Amino acid sequence: MARAQTIHICSQCGFSSAQWHGQCPGCEGWNTLVEERAPAGGPDARGARARGGGARKGSPSAPPVRLREVASAPLARLKTGIGELDRVLGGGLVPGSLVLLGGSPGIGKSTLTNMALGNLAGAGLSTLYVSGEESPEQVRLRAERLSRSALDVPVLAETDLDAVLDALATHAPAVCVIDSVQTLRCSELSGSPGSVGQVREVAARIMELAKARDIAVVLVGHVTKDGALAGPRVLEHLVDCVLQFEGERERPYRELRALKNRFGSTNEAGLFEMRQGGLVEVLDASARFVAEATRAPGSVVLAAMEGSRPLLVEVQALVAPSELEQPRRVVSGLDRNRLALVLAILGRHGRVGVGGHDVFVNVVGGVRVEEPGVDLAIALAVASAARGVPLNGSPCACFGELGLTGELRWVGHPERRLAEAARHGLSSVLAPPGSGEGAREAFTLREALAAVLPAARRPARAAA
Ligand code: TYD
Ligand code: MG
Repeated sequence: MARAQTIHICSQCGFSSAQWHGQCPGCEGWNTLVEERAPAGGPDARGARARGGGARKGSPSAPPVRLREVASAPLARLKTGIGELDRVLGGGLVPGSLVLLGGSPGIGKSTLTNMALGNLAGAGLSTLYVSGEESPEQVRLRAERLSRSALDVPVLAETDLDAVLDALATHAPAVCVIDSVQTLRCSELSGSPGSVGQVREVAARIMELAKARDIAVVLVGHVTKDGALAGPRVLEHLVDCVLQFEGERERPYRELRALKNRFGSTNEAGLFEMRQGGLVEVLDASARFVAEATRAPGSVVLAAMEGSRPLLVEVQALVAPSELEQPRRVVSGLDRNRLALVLAILGRHGRVGVGGHDVFVNVVGGVRVEEPGVDLAIALAVASAARGVPLNGSPCACFGELGLTGELRWVGHPERRLAEAARHGLSSVLAPPGSGEGAREAFTLREALAAVLPAARRPARAAA
């Protein structure tokens, strides 16, 4: 059988050609050509479009409408019955929308989607679980660990895109999960499953059908830690919502956040714990993290904001003499550059130098903190670890951003952070100026260190 025509397009300059080139003849970039299905009209039509040429002919477009006159119906939402997931989605799945759920292998993507489909099926909605990775037996084994209704979900083990599209068109479920988008294969393209061209084509074809038939689709995508297998990332602009599922495989906590959401906020995050019977929502995370805080040297409690919710998490640091010429700077749950910056400020303005020492900083519980308010916590944890003394009043709580000149800067929602700390028995919270009642305000890093770091019993070994 003759192959449908495909075309290779440069993702950098838009050059197109029927043949694949390792080096793009247009921009001379290497490995930039991606295979796509040729549109009607042949490769030339697509090439002209990609280069921005060629006016579109055909049916006249609809006239523009004043925004005020655009009809706006409230969005229908399909509740997955998993509170944290619904909240991160903005209230539930939107019919006809495409959600990309990314995360590293083993993190719990299949478990989460199985549970959601089970709940939806239990609520009387039609569902479909397409598995390209596991056999129906394997899917069943997992479902047995979850809820009774998880066993009511129809499963289709299939990797051929056309077969999946056929099933979707025939059964037209209200909600469908494709696990994973990297395993499906469009036979018209020669690339292997998971390649950029394949992943894009698979998602585009599924989206076309999903929008036409009002099917809410969750595409599961594997992302490696370093983002090396960038497969699903190329879909981010295409889908309505991108969710990221994170955590450490060895630890039970999992965090779900929205990186993009056309139907809700990207500030929300949900916390789960992986247990025997699946994922359980963690609603009292602050209480747990505070109770688990070690109060040892190098430990501090950060009053963080996870989207619109305050969350108390423990930040731990270890400072140890290094045998390497370039000492290690290892972070978990934080941005590495943030640590570098805080260490520089700590050395310059706090007189705590860690040159020649390895520094490890960890946000406990597999939570990820991506807000400037974490700076002060990193600084205090590292200083406490470097000096080998616990902070005064441990567990000591804090929040605040550090400026390059060593000043402590105001961060959002101080009142909510303080209230959360007070609710969990942490009354004296070190915070930037302007944080309001209940805060123990410090203007500079020096002041903050003086307030909670006991004078060293012996000269600090780590001090430069
Ligand atoms: P899984 O959802 O298969 O991960 P992913 O689809 O992201 O690759 O889950 C992976 C792990 O979760 C697996 O090691 C087993 C564990 N698990 C539990 O601890 N409890 C459970 O109830 C289930 C279903 C899985
Ligand atoms: Mg899986």
